[in-house]
Amino acid sequence: MDHENGQNGQSGQNGTIVEARELRKVYRGGSEVEALKGIDLDIARGELLAIIGPSGSGKTTLLNCLSGLERIDGGEVLVDGKDLAKLSDDDRTEYRAKSMGFVFQAFNLLPVLSAVENVEIPMLLLGESSKQARARAMETLENVGLAPRANHRPDQLSGGEQQRVAVARALVHRPAVVFADEPTGNLDSESTQSILDLFLRLNADGQTIVMVTHNPAVAGAARRTIAMRDGLIEQGAIDPKEAVATPGPVGVPPAS
Ligand SMILES: Nc1ncnc2c1ncn2[C@@H]1O[C@H](COP(=O)(O)OP(=O)(O)O)[C@@H](O)[C@H]1O
Ligand SMILES: [Mg+2]
Repeated sequence: MDHENGQNGQSGQNGTIVEARELRKVYRGGSEVEALKGIDLDIARGELLAIIGPSGSGKTTLLNCLSGLERIDGGEVLVDGKDLAKLSDDDRTEYRAKSMGFVFQAFNLLPVLSAVENVEIPMLLLGESSKQARARAMETLENVGLAPRANHRPDQLSGGEQQRVAVARALVHRPAVVFADEPTGNLDSESTQSILDLFLRLNADGQTIVMVTHNPAVAGAARRTIAMRDGLIEQGAIDPKEAVATPGPVGVPPAS
């Protein structure tokens, strides 16, 4: 992605785009679950950060709190210097729509819409004209190598192609941060590699990406990996190579 609008770029006062301090999240209802127990995390602009950890350790909760999807119960989250908890619901929703992109394990494309129509959605939600939305969606599909599939519906695309459409949808409005929750979790090893290559290329162009992954080889490709356990970040620097606990081809599921 380019840096024309400054959202991806170095326009901020420092190199940090997301900052969490003593972040806590408790799920109530039935029994209480302390999903995040005090997370301190700085994410630099332009970083590709991988988050690993066993199922239930709080990875999805952390993404949802960093992106303002869920309200937090303690501490603070600053995104580009803004305290998300201090924004009204409407302002937070608008901020997310403008500054963040999301990729999910299950792709979450709308089945009745074509690829290009799916990719247009964030632009239309931001009030762009249909002409501008279409032009940018086509450009972004081109960037992920799927321009020839623009008019296909999701059920006419492979899993890997659907996820590339979903990545295009996450990028089309040039967000400051892309959050991806197990983006390769439903993909075979070839498609996993293509999504990983795409993320690495986007990141090399300056896109900040935060991704949760179960795949040690995917985590190993990131420049920084943090490991979660029981609602906390495991202490100690993690050598990305250590994240590749079981060296092998990309796509081989980890032991955990
Ligand atoms: N909406 C929810 N309501 C209650 N508990 C939840 C909810 N979402 C997650 N949890 C609990 O919070 C903990 C962390 O979950 P999650 O963040 O989904 O972990 P991970 O993504 O690492 O698998 C788990 O114990 C999970 O059961
Ligand atoms: Mg999860």
